[in-house]
Amino acid sequence: MKIILCLLAVAVAGSAFAGADGAALFKAKMCGACHAAGKKGGDLKDSKMDKASLVKFMKDPKSVNPKVTMPAVKATDEELNALADYVLSLRK
Ligand code: HEC
Repeated sequence: MKIILCLLAVAVAGSAFAGADGAALFKAKMCGACHAAGKKGGDLKDSKMDKASLVKFMKDPKSVNPKVTMPAVKATDEELNALADYVLSLRK
């Protein structure tokens, strides 16, 4: 039974990445280590950036502001798009 549950978990996780699921990527890439209320990156629902700016910022934060301390996010364009959609979805 345990093995079946394990396989199921892997299948679910795999399909989430295939569709570039922003919420799953946010967890997998450890964004939450710095982004939450009270943490140094702050709660991303307070971000005012539009989608294009979000993608640009994540890809190369220092191109937006040389003073930023956030490391560039290593992800494909598809993943960056999904992450930006996820960040936008937090604002509702
Ligand atoms: C090591 C800590 C750290 C990690 C990990 C991190 N961030 Fe950040 N992030 C920051 C900090 C700090 C800022 C504030 C600007 C600065 O000083 O870099 C920031 C700013 C941002 C902003 C700009 C918000 C705004 O409108 O000003 C976005 C978007 C963002 N992060 C997304 C992400 C995503 C998505 C991930 C995961 C892929 C991530 N961050 C991972 C520390 C981090």
